[in-house]
Amino acid sequence: MADIKTFLNKVICGDVLDVLKAMPSDSVDLGITSPPYNKKGKNKGWLVDKVVYSDYGDNMDESDYQRWQIDVLNELYRIIKEGGSFFYNHKLRWERGKMIHPLEWISKTRWVVRQEIIWNRKIAGNIRGWRFWQVDERIYWLYKPKGDNLIGEELKPQHAKLSSVWEIRPEQGLKEHPAPFPIELPTRIILSILDDKRGVVIDPFCGTGTTLVSAKLLGHDYIGIDISKDYVELAKARLERAQEELSRVIREKELHSVSMTFEERKRKGYWDKKTRQNKLL
Ligand SMILES: C[S@@+](CC[C@H](N)C(=O)[O-])C[C@H]1O[C@@H](n2cnc3c(N)ncnc32)[C@H](O)[C@@H]1O
Repeated sequence: MADIKTFLNKVICGDVLDVLKAMPSDSVDLGITSPPYNKKGKNKGWLVDKVVYSDYGDNMDESDYQRWQIDVLNELYRIIKEGGSFFYNHKLRWERGKMIHPLEWISKTRWVVRQEIIWNRKIAGNIRGWRFWQVDERIYWLYKPKGDNLIGEELKPQHAKLSSVWEIRPEQGLKEHPAPFPIELPTRIILSILDDKRGVVIDPFCGTGTTLVSAKLLGHDYIGIDISKDYVELAKARLERAQEELSRVIREKELHSVSMTFEERKRKGYWDKKTRQNKLL
């Protein structure tokens, strides 16, 4: 099997499973992705355009789709290091009135589900009234345990305080792709999980390379995979001009700060045990 170094800082054009299978086990620190959602050309709303990829139909039988996603997630589990994480973005979908929840297939993989994060995108794709407007997507924090420890290390307070509901608007600026990440999203994950460590970050459905640009700007090595030649070229060009996106990464970084941890606040007497609120000293 090829050394992980041969994959570093590359955007590889190919099928996700073919490329992952060529990678060595326990070699990547962190992964972030949003796969195609098997939307079958549906869910075109009044407010958003239909999601159409350049080289991928996104139209599979749902059970084949779920089997494929399980295979991809298990292959990712193999290549991620013990104690490493993978952040998997997906959403609740409905087929003929029946809800399909991402945990239906995620729970069949080898990963430990560490958290379900609600991504409040603050805009609904479809504003018909069959349901309350769906403004959220989900981000699953998946964890590969180190030995018997299923819990893993604590997040630092400056990251944990960002909570389990992320209010980040969808990307508006990249019209060449139907569903790019806003750069704040992978940036939040990389900052929180890798903190001051240097690591390798993979996005196996990298599209325009948003995760890779964020990893590069934060000083990490990256690996991107996408089946579309057009998107791979787009991602490579974006990586060349990565500095142009630095200000948004810095703005996200500024949110990762605390003036005092909860422990310090208690120690210094700022915390009122009775009212469970900060005291105005
Ligand atoms: C939701 S998009 C990812 C967008 C990305 N997060 C970004 O910021 O641009 C999913 C991507 O998966 C790619 N894709 C679909 N099937 C694939 C396969 N079998 N192997 C690799 N990539 C695939 C599509 O070309 C598409 O760019």
